[in-house]
This record gives sequence, structure tokens and C-alpha cells, in this order.
Amino acid sequence: MSKEDRKAASTAEAVSAHYSRQNIEQIILSELSKSGKDINNLTVDDLAPMDELHTRGREATASLAALVGLHKDRRVLDVGSGIGGPSRYIASKYGCKVVGLDLVSEHCTAAKALAKRVKLDDRVQYRQGDATNMPFDDKSFDVVWTQHSSMNIQDKEKLYLEMYRVLVTGGRLVIYDIFAGADEKTPAIYPVPWAKDNSISFLIRQQDARHLLKKIGFSEILWQDMTAASIEWIKQMIKKVQQSGSSTGGGLVIRNAIVGPEWPMLIKNLAQNLEENRLAVAQGILQRR
Ligand SMILES: C[S@@+](CC[C@H](N)C(=O)[O-])C[C@H]1O[C@@H](n2cnc3c(N)ncnc32)[C@H](O)[C@@H]1O
Repeated sequence: MSKEDRKAASTAEAVSAHYSRQNIEQIILSELSKSGKDINNLTVDDLAPMDELHTRGREATASLAALVGLHKDRRVLDVGSGIGGPSRYIASKYGCKVVGLDLVSEHCTAAKALAKRVKLDDRVQYRQGDATNMPFDDKSFDVVWTQHSSMNIQDKEKLYLEMYRVLVTGGRLVIYDIFAGADEKTPAIYPVPWAKDNSISFLIRQQDARHLLKKIGFSEILWQDMTAASIEWIKQMIKKVQQSGSSTGGGLVIRNAIVGPEWPMLIKNLAQNLEENRLAVAQGILQRR
């Protein structure tokens, strides 16, 4: 193994350790049950406050899905699929088949179990694996989708090259991610939800990502800065939870249970980073040439 490969393997181990939690499905079911839901008749919408692990939650997924133009014959790959909220939403709304790929096996286990609960296990599948070395054939997907997953991936070129490789010619890449702020002299404040410190956080600026994607062979169809909308969403989420005291409002309590009691501080730090332009959120739709 080369020195770079050893470093990548140890980073992947540290990232997995950061996210790994036992019994994610049970934690979610217990919170839903407390809030009065019938856990034997759950819908994709019931899970939405808890399984969309990115800023602007379901709203971000729904608006991007509408923009990219999905339909039932599209084969979709969700890179860094987490516990599967976006993939289940896409499969249920558009009827397409979605494969989720995630580094953390507990996330894949929870995603599969939740898919079964909402009767989507015939349309979604989850595979454990690394986004920089995907276990898929060339040109096997029409759409590659990714939300808030590249922050922990150091080798962005390898990541984007893999996304390019598995897409058909003319296929679309959908990105909704966190980026470094435009000014490199104001680095992020840690901890944040995806990293306790910068040892597993690898952020590049939007302009650098766009440049790299074009160099690899993507044409840009759309690129939008979503930082202001993300700040507003975080503020509203915190306010909603404070006002309602609800266990699932905005997913805050469930994230306490899954991420840990430090969750409110992590999300507050994220908002501060965004407000001070230390970090940014953006979405893009690109096409493989
Ligand atoms: C913040 S979560 C977002 C999950 C999901 N995309 C969503 O929006 O609900 C980030 C996810 O990226 C995954 N991830 C991080 N590095 C990865 C890698 N190298 N390969 C595949 N997945 C990775 C993590 O395990 C985690 O599930």
C-alpha cells in the first residue's frame, strides 16, 4: 500500500468512527412513537424531519429533484446516502430505482431497515463503500446525486472522477454541498456536525470545485449559492424546536440522540461559519459530456 493509500484508509476509518452509531433505526422509531406516530404504518414524510441530514432538509431534496428532472426510468446513485432520506424520497416521488452508497455500515443498515418500513425496499438499495473507489461499473447511472457528503472526502478529484466514470454520457450530476468560504484567511470554526476538528474535514471553495468539475469533463447547467437560505433554515429549525418543545420538530432531538448531546452546539457553529463566510452552501447540476 502506498503512503497516500495508507493515509486515505486511516482517514476513512476516522470518518467512520465519527459517524458510527448503533441502533439508529430503533432510536428513530422510539422518537416517532413518542410523538404519536404509528410506527407500523410509517410514510416517507413521517421520517423526513429525521432522515434528511443536510441543511434545508426535505425542502432542499425536493427542490433539487424537481430541477434535475427525474422519472421512473432513471437509475440514480446517491453518494454518501446516510440513513437514506433523500433516496427514499426520490424513489417514492418519481418511482425511480435508487442505489445509496455510504462509507458507514450502520448508516446502510438503518437505511435498509427504514426503506422496508415504508415499503420501498423494491426500489432502493444501499451499499457500503467508499465514494472515491465505487463498487459500480462504468456508465451505470443516469443521475449521480450527492448532498453534504464531500466534506469528509479529501481527494475531491478522485471523487468527481468516480462520479464521472459511473455516469452515462449526458447523465447528470446533482451536488448540494458545503464548501469553504471564498476567503481562505477565514477558516472554519470547529466542531461542526461532520467533524470535531479539521483532521477529517476537507473543504474546497465553490470556485475551485466548479473549476475541477469542468476540467474533469462536466458542463455546468446550474450553480446556486444557498448559504443565505441555509442560515435561515437553521435559525427557523432552532426556533421551532425551542417553541414547540416537540421531540421531532426540525429533527433536533433525534439528532441529539444520533449525533450526541453536543448537536445544538455543532449546528450553532455551522450557522456562525455560514454567517461569517467561513463556509458556504451551494447546489449545482452538471452534465457529463
Ligand atoms: C452529513 S451525512 C449526509 C447524508 C445524506 N447525504 C443526507 O443528506 O441525508 C454525510 C454522509 O457521507 C458519508 N460519507 C463520508 N465520507 C464518505 C466516503 N468517502 N464515501 C461514502 N460515503 C461517505 C457519511 O458516512 C455520511 O453518511
